[in-house]
Amino acid sequence: MEIIFKPIGYVHSSFTNPDDMPRQPKSSNHAPGQIEILDAYTAGLKDLDGFSHIVLLCYFHKSKEVKLLVNPPRKHEGEVGVFASRSPSRPNPIGLSVVRLDKIEGNLLYISGHDLLDGTPVLDIKPYLPEVGDTSNIRFGWLDGHIQT
Ligand SMILES: C[S@@+](CC[C@H](N)C(=O)[O-])C[C@H]1O[C@@H](n2cnc3c(N)ncnc32)[C@H](O)[C@@H]1O
Repeated sequence: MEIIFKPIGYVHSSFTNPDDMPRQPKSSNHAPGQIEILDAYTAGLKDLDGFSHIVLLCYFHKSKEVKLLVNPPRKHEGEVGVFASRSPSRPNPIGLSVVRLDKIEGNLLYISGHDLLDGTPVLDIKPYLPEVGDTSNIRFGWLDGHIQT
């Protein structure tokens, strides 16, 4: 099966070098950015402005290779499987970021605390809801001791 998605918009960001930017929204020091939604999809923004945080599903358009074993920065020795990581070098290079939604003006979403390169295509946006999913008794695998809850 082949699946074809079209972007609903694009990220405007000051980050232009993937090697010199935050690795997760929480470490991005409230980095500001905007998402420009394409005209065809702006009607879908109705009522989103009441949410403080949104989930972004993005296409890692600058991802150069697929790696099934990766060496994330917090793994000091050896490799982990890509599906046990949040690496952009994935078979389907899709990113998932939870960011703060500061305001919406027309087709522009002002966000902060993101980890995305300028020009990143956005595939979908959803309101962040802490109640989605059973998150009791979370284990952090090889990241145990590195995660602040
Ligand atoms: C570790 S990923 C995490 C992204 C998302 N928060 C997630 O968990 O899916 C963040 C890194 O991806 C890289 N990156 C961000 N936007 C990208 C893009 N459009 N194409 C390729 N790499 C990108 C940058 O190196 C950034 O530090």
